Amino acid sequence: MNEHKKIVIVGATSAIATHAARIWAQKGHTEFFLLGRDSSRLNRVAEDLKARGTQNSVLTLVINFTNPEEIQRVVKQVVSDGAADIVLIAHGSLSDQQRAQNDLVYAQNELIINGVSAVLFAEAFATTLELAGRGTLAVIGSVAGDRGRRSNYVYGAAKGLVTRYVQGLQHRFAGTAIKVVLIKPGPTETPMTAALVANGLKAAPVDEVAQSMVAAIDRGAPEAYAPGKWWVIMMIIRHLPRFVFNKMNI
Ligand SMILES: NC(=O)c1ccc[n+]([C@@H]2O[C@H](COP(=O)([O-])OP(=O)(O)OC[C@H]3O[C@@H](n4cnc5c(N)ncnc54)[C@H](OP(=O)(O)O)[C@@H]3O)[C@@H](O)[C@H]2O)c1
Repeated sequence: MNEHKKIVIVGATSAIATHAARIWAQKGHTEFFLLGRDSSRLNRVAEDLKARGTQNSVLTLVINFTNPEEIQRVVKQVVSDGAADIVLIAHGSLSDQQRAQNDLVYAQNELIINGVSAVLFAEAFATTLELAGRGTLAVIGSVAGDRGRRSNYVYGAAKGLVTRYVQGLQHRFAGTAIKVVLIKPGPTETPMTAALVANGLKAAPVDEVAQSMVAAIDRGAPEAYAPGKWWVIMMIIRHLPRFVFNKMNI
């Protein structure tokens, strides 16, 4: 396949997003808009993508992820010469649950970056896709958003917000050519989980997760667990009766 595509990645320095971008870059003739908070990290990703596909163009934009006016302005700028074919919203931070319980400023920041910020980007891009009448908006949520658990419910609550929000967008665009895709990774080997993996957490290889994410985006699937086995695991976790769930240390 060698069609021209415009792909916007919010949180483009994320390891999962970077691996997805490499898959898209190899397909050729892609116009990338990479949004992030740090220009040198963004530039490294941009150079890597340019080296992988000579027909690709890569632009980077530094943005404050928690400023609604800036989000609105930058999104308008990104689509000023044409709507995006794919928008991927990838940023996130694995919250320290214990710290969040004791430091409400930290808890607020985590809820905002993982939840509110992601939905504000989604809302701003949704409007541009609606105007174009087509396109795919993908957001990375998490299995953690499926059921609140004592070990990570601040992060889980923010991802739960993303889940419910995406459901609403899917309802809004039902029957149109606009697809809204929610990706729910299980534990994945990225910088976000490096410390946990070093302490024995079993996590999926990032390229495997990126491949299932890209496949789900290509299909326009409403929801995709990555790897797919998490669909079964989370179905069980969601349906466990409270008296069983409350005895589990998860
Ligand atoms: N890894 C997992 O096990 C796992 C599981 C489920 C869901 N997820 C979700 O997958 C997505 C990608 O994560 P990843 O695993 O690829 O982790 P990652 O490599 O650590 O990437 C995290 C990304 O979020 C950005 N970010 C973090 N805090 C930010 C802030 N305050 N403002 C702006 N950007 C911020 C980082 O930017 P900088 O590069 O500038 O720091 C980076 O682009 C996230 O939404 C995460 O919640 C990950």
